[in-house]
Amino acid sequence: MKKTKTSHDKLWGNAFTESPEKLMMEFTSSHDVYPINPADSVLIPYDIKQNIAQVKMLYKQKILNKKEHNNLLEGLNQLYGLWEKGEFVLDPMLEDVHTNIENWLSKKYGIDVGGKIHTGRSRNDQVVTDMYLYLHDQIQYTIKSIQLLNKSLYKSAKKYQDTICPGYTHHQHAVVTSLGLILHSFNISFKRDIKGLQDLAQKYNYSPLGSGVGYGTLINIDPTFSAKELGFERKFKNPIDVISNRGEFEAALAFQICQFLNHASSLAQTFILFSTTEFGFLKLADHYSTGSSAMPQKKNPDALELIKSTASVANSNVSALMQITKGNLIGYNRDTQETKHIVYHLLSKVELIPKILSGIIETITVFPKVLENQANKGFINSLGLMEMIINETGLPMRKAKILIELSIKKSVENGFSDKVDFISFKEAQQLSGIICDISEESFYVWQDANFQFNQLDFNY
Ligand code: ARG
Repeated sequence: MKKTKTSHDKLWGNAFTESPEKLMMEFTSSHDVYPINPADSVLIPYDIKQNIAQVKMLYKQKILNKKEHNNLLEGLNQLYGLWEKGEFVLDPMLEDVHTNIENWLSKKYGIDVGGKIHTGRSRNDQVVTDMYLYLHDQIQYTIKSIQLLNKSLYKSAKKYQDTICPGYTHHQHAVVTSLGLILHSFNISFKRDIKGLQDLAQKYNYSPLGSGVGYGTLINIDPTFSAKELGFERKFKNPIDVISNRGEFEAALAFQICQFLNHASSLAQTFILFSTTEFGFLKLADHYSTGSSAMPQKKNPDALELIKSTASVANSNVSALMQITKGNLIGYNRDTQETKHIVYHLLSKVELIPKILSGIIETITVFPKVLENQANKGFINSLGLMEMIINETGLPMRKAKILIELSIKKSVENGFSDKVDFISFKEAQQLSGIICDISEESFYVWQDANFQFNQLDFNY
């Protein structure tokens, strides 16, 4: 975070104390300015990794001799180096990553060597294998970043454990709660998302390599060996299943990501609302806010808004993946190529979200006085009062509810809008015939936000 200097070349920011976070700008600018990489360029390192395993397996099966094996491994390592330097660029005329790599090897070592690498394999099992490797990596990356987010959330949940806050239902005051408990609820949802991701990694822990076009092969390959080389627990169980169901892992992961984004979007909306002038519960740090090209006073929550729209797009991504993978004739269908683009675009948009949320959470300013003030407004303590009456007098719940409802009606008629008034409570007793003998002092103490807050258990 850098302090801002006066700037004449930016559209906004002179009312800010800090310059915007780079990550946030990257996220908010998004595909407005950043290009989307071709999906197969993302698969290059995975395809190289797979080819290395394939070469080792073919050598073990005596399909490649020592020299061919050495040449191909040397070529693949060289290719990896080129890719790292950004010097291996895919030629669209060669269709995809698989043909580009085979072509490069054949050009270098001749077709008699390069032309052997695809023995007993098809692009059908090749692409599914690349995708499994890529998706597994993405799962691990996402788990780690949600874990970091959860650390920030837990820290904040503890920090604001004793901060009184109005709890809402239907956007209306409901009951008194703790701001920490609200933050902790998101920590628990995200923990479930992490578990969901871990379960997926376990569920799809098998290698598709060796299923060939989708029906196995007459070549004497060893898919169990390849599976181990690639770090999978085992090989596929049925070649038709693994090829026909391309897109299933993608859809399952997209669903889990979508679930995470649904949780994240609820956190985003809560912060957006809590930080409005109307609520005034908290303020986002300047370096996690954005300005306006026209309005000088603006400090907007753009990043939070874009998390919400990413969740919306993710919902439609899940639906698209499910649509593409249904109703196909058993076997490979080119329709499934689209699943690659959809899941890749989704994952690339989600990448920064946990980091940004964690930055936002760690840098908010909370205004406890405003929160406490609101936690005493709009009859928010009525349920607490009613429950204290039940606790202390044994009045049946339904009778207590009738009595407090009538008391509220009377209080409003008598000009009160925040707390139930004792005289009105007495009038309600006369009117309803429900008698409740409690002192005026208890009646008001029980309605106090602090009193109710201290009765509640916010342990986590
Ligand atoms: N690029 C293709 C894809 O992602 C590779 C598989 C092509 N297979 C085929 N039978 N045409 O689906």
